[in-house]
Amino acid sequence: MILPAMAIRPGTAADRDRLSEILSGTGRFTERELGWAMELVDAALLGGSEEYEVCVLEEEGATLGFALFGRTPRTDDVYDLYWLAVDQARQGTGLGQSLLQFVESELRARGARMLLIETSSKATYAPTVRFYEAAGYRQISKIKDFYRIEDDKLVFSKTLKP
Ligand SMILES: CC(C)(COP(=O)(O)OP(=O)(O)OC[C@H]1O[C@@H](n2cnc3c(N)ncnc32)[C@H](O)[C@@H]1OP(=O)(O)O)[C@@H](O)C(=O)NCCC(=O)NCCS
Repeated sequence: MILPAMAIRPGTAADRDRLSEILSGTGRFTERELGWAMELVDAALLGGSEEYEVCVLEEEGATLGFALFGRTPRTDDVYDLYWLAVDQARQGTGLGQSLLQFVESELRARGARMLLIETSSKATYAPTVRFYEAAGYRQISKIKDFYRIEDDKLVFSKTLKP
């Protein structure tokens, strides 16, 4: 069987443990953050949630990253990107941008107006902020000391034109 070089598909329950491994392998998240991320992964993959969806990037059959997103409650056609992670060994090779572009085109097809992304102002997130800016996201708000003192919440947004 010839496996496709790269493919992005909806996540299934069978992906759960590998997604957990990718998240913890980034070394970016605390145990509490990993727990929160996996609550949403489980809601999307195991709980049949309509609020959260996962798409998974595979290369030659190996799962290398995923995005978790969903419609922002109580809005007309606004979506949130809740988590995005790429296997530590393959970061910086374009897979994150491929996942983000996939989510954006999927949402455009559904008539989404805007995609929002929240992130932290901690110095360790500077490469992540550069990644979002390179993808056309603009910082639209900052809540000072939101996560903890000296750790602000930054909100990035992109208008999704049809
Ligand atoms: C943020 C993340 C999803 C980006 O995916 P990626 O596949 O590494 O990024 P790409 O290769 O598509 O894009 C590379 C760009 O992203 C930025 N970047 C972010 N993290 C990077 C990393 N660890 N290594 C290299 N570049 C990184 C760089 O600015 C780079 O731009 P450049 O090529 O002009 O230097 C990925 O690095 C990751 O999983 N990081 C840890 C988890 C995280 O922070 N998730 C987002 C918050 S939930």
